[in-house]
Amino acid sequence: MIPDSFKQDLLNRVDIVDVIERYVPLKKTGANFSACCPFHSEKTPSFTVSPGKQFYHCFGCGANGNAISFLMEYQGMGYVEAVKDLAEDVGMKLPDFEPRNVQKKPDADPDLYGVVERASQYFREQLKDSPKAIEYLKGRGLSGKVAARFGIGYAPDGWQSLQSVFPNYADKALKDAGLVIDNDEGRRYDRFRDRIMFPILNQRGAVIGFGGRVIGDGEPKYLNSPETPLFEKGRELYGLSQARLAIRDAGRVIVVEGYMDVVALAQHGVEYAVATLGTATTPTHVSKLLRQTDELVFCFDGDGAGRRAAWHALEVSLPLIADQKVVRFLLLPPEDDPDSFIRAHGREAFEAMLLKAKPLSTFMLEGLKGRVDMESVEGRSRLIHEAGPLLQKIAAPAMQLQLLKQIAELSGISQDEAARLCGIRLSAPRHALPSVARPEESFARRPEVEQRSPLSGARFRDKSSLLLERKPIRKLLQCLIAKPVLAEDLPLDLFDEELPEARALQALTTFLREQSEASVAFVKECFRNTLHEDVIQDAVMELEAWRFQAEDVEAEFRSILVSFESVRVRARLDELTSRNELSPDEKSELTRLLQEQQALKNQPVSGPPVVHLQVPPVTR
Ligand code: GTP
Ligand code: MN
Repeated sequence: MIPDSFKQDLLNRVDIVDVIERYVPLKKTGANFSACCPFHSEKTPSFTVSPGKQFYHCFGCGANGNAISFLMEYQGMGYVEAVKDLAEDVGMKLPDFEPRNVQKKPDADPDLYGVVERASQYFREQLKDSPKAIEYLKGRGLSGKVAARFGIGYAPDGWQSLQSVFPNYADKALKDAGLVIDNDEGRRYDRFRDRIMFPILNQRGAVIGFGGRVIGDGEPKYLNSPETPLFEKGRELYGLSQARLAIRDAGRVIVVEGYMDVVALAQHGVEYAVATLGTATTPTHVSKLLRQTDELVFCFDGDGAGRRAAWHALEVSLPLIADQKVVRFLLLPPEDDPDSFIRAHGREAFEAMLLKAKPLSTFMLEGLKGRVDMESVEGRSRLIHEAGPLLQKIAAPAMQLQLLKQIAELSGISQDEAARLCGIRLSAPRHALPSVARPEESFARRPEVEQRSPLSGARFRDKSSLLLERKPIRKLLQCLIAKPVLAEDLPLDLFDEELPEARALQALTTFLREQSEASVAFVKECFRNTLHEDVIQDAVMELEAWRFQAEDVEAEFRSILVSFESVRVRARLDELTSRNELSPDEKSELTRLLQEQQALKNQPVSGPPVVHLQVPPVTR
């Protein structure tokens, strides 16, 4: 977690005018600065920045905030990312805030950016001197202008070419930046040799890594920078920095598979494409992009790998879409990728095809239908079975309901039956939900869960059926809303997804990990029209009724977590100790659990634990 004191200190040191001016030209008007608002389109400036208050405000659209929120809104950064970005500017070192159990990455050496940037510059210069590399790029239809837009370069064919720009070739920074490899004999050589170099930029346009393509044939075709303190593959998207304005103008973003796809699309005027970096689409990718625009089109190759990648992207997107967002899928003909398609058919044909990309709902239904024999009872049953977990993930209520209807129709059953079989609770009118669980209900196992298992039995692990307590989960929701940074510390797998409160908790946690600046009002607003609306509203109400002190929140949060952890450990211990015989693995698990139990008992819990979970004593 980032302590408030650090945040305040940081905000005192940065100047919001400098920060905003990096992206938006500002004009001095009296004591303030003004510009046309970057958050909505306008002809006369109503966006003002106050150096005195260190605040921006738009009189047109109401956007306002501090330097951190500006980076989050304008650059689509997450909270932590924005804080890091600002901290680097003013030379502040981020305190240790990683949640426990997460291995801490080494801190980014501020010089590392400089090292990677120098290398990038060197590769660009080398490209000018390499007719072979230039020929290759020309052969792939790229102009000098587009090569410059993406900063494409060439890493020459020597073992230690980088020595010419880094006289201290033994410098640790070269290794940390992923530019060199140390072999077993302690000899060091360049990672990238005789390759076309695609620099990977972060959101603010700094080079953080590279993708290097072999010229012609060879293995591996692409070589990427390893994960470094600057570069985390699951968070970054190739081309996003260059595409930002075009994404705004087009109102959409395309996600493709390859570097060359992004570059070739830009060459033909489609500048709003980005690529994942040889990794599968992550929730971070999707939420990052959906923060910047309302429409996201996944455009993948038509081969088997492309289809699998698309289905994975679908699953990742389900919990992240809201009803006003559109996610679509375009699978190209099997022989094409976006690069070859646009080169062969041009921009108009590509964009026409893009307009016909399948909405997520269609893509999902077709995908499901394609897997089963819709003519048989068995096939239709399987359809429902496979649809269940997907439908459960959908956060957008209108979309969930419509898809449920279609699944019901396709399989010839009623909507209520489909809902039951898919494990979906149709949103009841608000008054039908008790706003506070009755005490006898809150700790009891709920019978409907057991009844609902025939199709999704696998989801009911022992662990989860024990964690059906609503009340502590509601409290956790309140803690997170009161203190969003706690989301970093909440393990997501601790709770049973059967409870609406637990599903809301998961959604809220994921949301707050990206938006730890969120105010109560902002949280409320963001969850409006989602499946979690009711639960979140209730939590906000309960929070307002809970007259807490700032330090209470964290203490409460920790003690609930300890209780949950204890229940889980206890339950598993119970199970193991009730057996007659244990396998060697189970024996060592038992030992580990006993240790864990002891550790949990010793865990300092400030104040009395709020939850008294009723767990039978361990019998021996
Ligand atoms: P071109 O052949 O240059 O058109 O590349 P492509 O972008 O069409 O490549 P492909 O569809 O084969 O791969 C898509 C993406 O997967 C690439 O942009 C890389 O990010 C990644 N990739 C492809 N091949 C390799 C490889 O051999 N190693 C690694 N690490 N990544 C690869
Ligand atoms: Mn290709």
